Amino acid sequence: MKLEGRVAVVTGAGSGIGREISRHLASEGARIAAVDLRPETAEETVAMLEGSGHFAAAVDVSEGTSVVEMFGKVDAEFGRVDILVNNAGVDHIPGDGRDELLATGQQTIHMSDEGFTKLMAINVNGVFFCLREAIKVMQREQNAGSIINMSSVAGLSQYGNVSYSASKAAVLGITRAAAGELGRFGIRVNAICPGVIDTPMTAGIPDPMLDPLRRATPLGRTGQPRDIATTAVFLASDDSSFITGQWISPNGGLVMQ
Ligand SMILES: NC(=O)c1ccc[n+]([C@@H]2O[C@H](COP(=O)([O-])OP(=O)(O)OC[C@H]3O[C@@H](n4cnc5c(N)ncnc54)[C@H](O)[C@@H]3O)[C@@H](O)[C@H]2O)c1
Repeated sequence: MKLEGRVAVVTGAGSGIGREISRHLASEGARIAAVDLRPETAEETVAMLEGSGHFAAAVDVSEGTSVVEMFGKVDAEFGRVDILVNNAGVDHIPGDGRDELLATGQQTIHMSDEGFTKLMAINVNGVFFCLREAIKVMQREQNAGSIINMSSVAGLSQYGNVSYSASKAAVLGITRAAAGELGRFGIRVNAICPGVIDTPMTAGIPDPMLDPLRRATPLGRTGQPRDIATTAVFLASDDSSFITGQWISPNGGLVMQ
């Protein structure tokens, strides 16, 4: 097993990609701190995991104090953090203009201040808050670690609306800057940029918005959470020990770079 003895914090672990990543990391021997805005879903994830010693906690990643409290609980439980999967995120919130997009073909002009800033607070501030708290424990305990930030093809290309694309591009910026700073502490920081993956998130996206992406995917299928989880195991493990500051995009060929 590749992750025996390691502790992984997975945000957004109560659903979709985060749940599958938790399952794959646990099957490689890691103990999982499954954290989510909806703690009952994180508990459900823990109940599905192989092995023992896993832990569920509530967090709102957009709130710095909530993140500090959550890491305090994880630290008290495990005394170390080896892997952080910064996966929690949203693609749609009230005020982001999605309804108007479907009715009028335009989104940005209908996006409210709050619709933009709230999504950024979850998808960008949340990644920063969790990364900052994780590296405190990583540096204190073992001067090593792997941080995996969930970006998107929306961070690489024109897919997605302006707030979601901006948030996922910002995640790539955080990834590179942090990788540059943290390499000397043995901490690697990489990003995953999924294409269209079948999860509750994409189940909520109207077909007129998703169908063009499905048609533009050369492999002719949508991805499964497993396609992302296997990539996360690679980036979490020593198999990727010389890889930092990079992104990898399991996307079926939707975006090629
Ligand atoms: N599904 C896709 O096609 C796709 C593609 C590219 C990127 N992504 C990214 O992958 C990640 C996971 O997406 P998914 O498809 O599994 O979505 P999902 O909606 O199934 O799961 C997201 C999880 O994040 C949690 N969450 C939301 N806001 C939170 C907050 N403020 N604090 C803590 N937890 C919060 C939710 O409760 C949920 O459990 C997201 O960052 C998403 O942007 C998904």
